[in-house]
Amino acid sequence: MSAAEVRKVGVVGLGTMGAGIAQVCVQAGIETVGHEVSEELGERARERIAHYLGRGVEKGRLTAEERDAALARLTTTTDLADLADCDVVIEAIVEDPEAKREIFRALEEVVGEGAILATNTSALSVTAIAQETERPERVVGMHFFNPAPVLPLVEVVRTELSSDEAVEAAYGLADRLGKEPIRCNDTPGFVVNRILIPLLNDCVRVLDEAGVSPEDLDKAMTRGVNWPIGPCALIDLIGVDIHVHASEALHDALGEPRMAPPERLVRMRDEGLLGRKSGRGFFAY
Ligand SMILES: NC(=O)c1ccc[n+]([C@@H]2O[C@H](COP(=O)([O-])OP(=O)(O)OC[C@H]3O[C@@H](n4cnc5c(N)ncnc54)[C@H](O)[C@@H]3O)[C@@H](O)[C@H]2O)c1
Repeated sequence: MSAAEVRKVGVVGLGTMGAGIAQVCVQAGIETVGHEVSEELGERARERIAHYLGRGVEKGRLTAEERDAALARLTTTTDLADLADCDVVIEAIVEDPEAKREIFRALEEVVGEGAILATNTSALSVTAIAQETERPERVVGMHFFNPAPVLPLVEVVRTELSSDEAVEAAYGLADRLGKEPIRCNDTPGFVVNRILIPLLNDCVRVLDEAGVSPEDLDKAMTRGVNWPIGPCALIDLIGVDIHVHASEALHDALGEPRMAPPERLVRMRDEGLLGRKSGRGFFAY
């Protein structure tokens, strides 16, 4: 299947990432079915998407008619069987290998022969997920960045078992969604997290080593290196818990000491200082 032939997309899990991905799909004119574990969570995701589309109208990025048309393309369900006629399904459930394996096995039972199955995992092996399926050639990674409606990058991850057709269809779909995809192999952290996670960990270690405040560290990197955002503000945006989890996964996979989460971040996570989402991290929000 080519990306141009994709008429319907399924998104499994409508949390932070899944709701954002579903929003991007309906805004690009593609009929989308979102799957959640309860009707209430599905409804909540729809409300969040409606809210963000409404903000887009206020800011003049889309018209009220375009918002209504986009919302009309979205249905939600708690029954995976409703994804039967999807050409591509993007999985964005919790980062739990067994839960993901279970979803992929269940998806295979319902989707058609030609459907492509993508995972949005940040840190799990796409190959291990693919190997659970009968037809691993149609499994790829489509790694969106948070917030999915805003950040243009999608890492299209190919395993050794992925077919060229599946990789190109996923790449073409990301392109149709208005994103800027890249292709990469299924290695720990893919491209961005492999580089960013140890780099941000180094920044946090420098806080203590150099006796510098978070404000001054961010000033150093924005004023001295022209980063668009300082490292502490970036970790607050990502979420301290998410960053620690990703560091642990990368450290488990590759074993470099720089990849292990710094003590300070583990403490912040344990104290609930998670960044923007908890109202306090390195900075107060
Ligand atoms: N948050 C990020 O910054 C980010 C960025 C890129 C990729 N990711 C990856 O995206 C995935 C989702 O992350 P998130 O931050 O959106 O998580 P989240 O906790 O916000 O959302 C996960 C959603 O999946 C739902 N869910 C759980 N089990 C399900 C199932 N069996 N069927 C259907 N829905 C189910 C949950 O109810 C929840 O709404 C993870 O694999 C994560 O690694 C996250």
